[in-house]
Amino acid sequence: MSEKLGPFVRRHATLLAIVAAAAVGTVVVAALLTNIIERKHEGKNRYARLVDVTEETVDAAPWAMNWSRQYDGYRRTVDVTRTRFGGSEALPEQKIERDPWLKRMFAGYAFAIDYRDRRGHAYMLADQEMTKRVTERPQPGSCLHCHSSVMPTYRRLGQGDVFAGFEALGKMTYADAHAEVVRTGSMNPVAGGTEIRFEHAKGAHPLGCVDCHDPKSMELRVTRPGFIRGIQALAASDAPVPHLPSIERWRERGAPGLYDPNEEATRQEMRSFVCGQCHVEYYCGPKTTLFFPWSNGLEVEAIEATYDGFRFDDGSRFFDWKHAETGAEVLKAQHPEFELWSQGIHARAGVACADCHMPYQRDGSVKVSDHWVRSPMLNIARACQACHPVGEDELEARVTVIQNRTRELMERAAAAMTDMLDAIGAARGSGASDVQLAAALELQRKAQWRLDFIAAENSMGFHAPAEAARILGESIDYSRQSQLEAAMWHYLPASKDRR
Ligand code: HEC
Ligand code: HEC
Ligand code: HEC
Ligand code: HEC
Ligand code: HEC
Repeated sequence: MSEKLGPFVRRHATLLAIVAAAAVGTVVVAALLTNIIERKHEGKNRYARLVDVTEETVDAAPWAMNWSRQYDGYRRTVDVTRTRFGGSEALPEQKIERDPWLKRMFAGYAFAIDYRDRRGHAYMLADQEMTKRVTERPQPGSCLHCHSSVMPTYRRLGQGDVFAGFEALGKMTYADAHAEVVRTGSMNPVAGGTEIRFEHAKGAHPLGCVDCHDPKSMELRVTRPGFIRGIQALAASDAPVPHLPSIERWRERGAPGLYDPNEEATRQEMRSFVCGQCHVEYYCGPKTTLFFPWSNGLEVEAIEATYDGFRFDDGSRFFDWKHAETGAEVLKAQHPEFELWSQGIHARAGVACADCHMPYQRDGSVKVSDHWVRSPMLNIARACQACHPVGEDELEARVTVIQNRTRELMERAAAAMTDMLDAIGAARGSGASDVQLAAALELQRKAQWRLDFIAAENSMGFHAPAEAARILGESIDYSRQSQLEAAMWHYLPASKDRR
């Protein structure tokens, strides 16, 4: 090509190229600047306030005046959705009817009387108020920590001290605590507020804007005492947390004072921390204040170690209930989404809960986070394709394969657990004593804890497929070991005085 150019051009080719590039560059930069300025302008408008919202504005409706796009999404959490392993009808299906083994696993526990699929955020308070676990069993005020916009009540009861209020509400019965939340609401009537249609407990509200956003700056922040104490205990431990770089940096600085997520965490971490306020394993019972068991790390055995090492005030060891069939002191797992996500490739790659469950959508030139928090499978284009430029069908197929494999392995773990319960029952029937069955019962605790950890987690393995399989594999192994132990005492009564 160069032989066609004239001598001048040939001699000054480089110079000309630079001049041309500079000219084009200037135009592009100018265009970009104009564009950015326009967007900034719109960005500012987005935060123009028609209504003043404060720490007391637990009702989301007034916020709608300032941030209608986010509010519209938030309100859609009343909609009924369904995917293969998620979503639910008007009244969610009873998990315990669909999977009868769950009922046996929970024998003797409140979960055996009412345990349903979850649904949208709008229902969190109403569903808690009406579950038989609340209406037919005593429950503590701490239940409201994750099901209502409770911060002003904590502040009021603690006279400004959130943690004191948190302790106080946790010591009350559910009914008394609920009445306190309603009272706070009636003491802070919101100007311009309207009751949202799904709200039936006047004055009390489910998760609101104020629970994830600072009302002054609209920055993300965490508010829940359970999370703040939990993440502080995790930071203070030496458990590796490569997916939480701000904790690693804080440790490198010599771990000064207490780790403060609102000061230290990156914006990307906050996009998961706000969910970690509730979508976690926890203890919430009558014997001590609600806590997140993270002081040894987030893996299933680290949490188990925390529980095994925990002593209640009366010196007794930690368990959630005594299994009605076998008498084993067992553990109940609850929706450990934050913990399982922590073990997966997405967390390691810095992908946050909000990336998949609240993806960005464009509205004119404004980028809006979809506040209709729901299954990403209802929204694959925005939830996944931003990072994975492959067809929707292929992405869906990848998820289906992971979920089906998890489900099949879970069925096997459930079968092993059922055989274990049968074997322990048979051994008891033939006169085996508590002392003789002690080893079998400890193995039952380990087996159930692992099976329940994956069954209670809501992604059917997707958040960390290999980890989910590992945990179910261990569950099967512990169930079979326990079954062997029990069978020995059943079939070898002669060896009864070996222990
Ligand atoms: C890489 C994407 C991705 C990330 C990151 C992610 N999730 Fe998920 N999540 C999914 C998928 C896919 C499902 C399965 C949905 C289904 O079965 O319909 C799911 C399921 C769920 C469900 C059950 C929803 C339903 O409708 O069944 C909850 C709750 C959940 N995730 C919470 C979280 C939390 C909390 C985090 C962060 C700690 C998180 N997820 C991180 C993709 C993600
Ligand atoms: C204050 C506690 C709380 C916080 C914070 C919270 N959730 Fe939830 N979430 C719940 C509860 C409770 C439910 C179940 C409501 C029900 O079944 O009535 C739920 C349900 C869900 C569901 C199921 C929705 C459906 O339509 O079935 C998804 C998905 C979900 N949450 C994801 C998230 C994500 C992602 C975040 C962070 C951006 C988050 N949640 C923050 C408590 C919370
Ligand atoms: C640490 C936060 C947290 C605490 C404390 C908490 N929940 Fe929840 N709860 C959730 C989340 C997250 C979900 C949605 C995920 C799921 O259903 O697995 C949920 C779902 C539920 C549901 C709907 C699904 C079901 O299980 O039938 C009910 C009812 C419920 N909780 C009742 C209670 C009661 C009663 C207490 C007190 C003993 C309580 N919760 C304490 C976070 C919490
Ligand atoms: C469960 C936590 C949660 C709740 C509740 C919540 N948000 Fe958000 N919000 C987020 C997250 C996560 C982002 C993304 C922020 C980021 O990336 O910095 C966000 C972003 C925003 C933004 C910035 C622009 C955008 O869309 O990204 C606004 C404005 C906003 N939310 C308003 C609201 C309003 C109004 C409500 C109540 C109707 C609300 N939010 C409730 C988690 C929440
Ligand atoms: C913000 C970016 C981002 C989003 C959003 C995202 N992913 Fe990913 N995904 C990644 C990265 C990065 C990896 C790791 C790739 C690697 O290291 O090879 C990954 C890995 C995967 C893998 C391989 C998992 C494994 O264990 O090997 C699957 C499957 C996957 N993603 C599916 C999804 C689906 C389905 C969604 C939507 C629900 C989604 N991703 C959303 C970035 C993302």
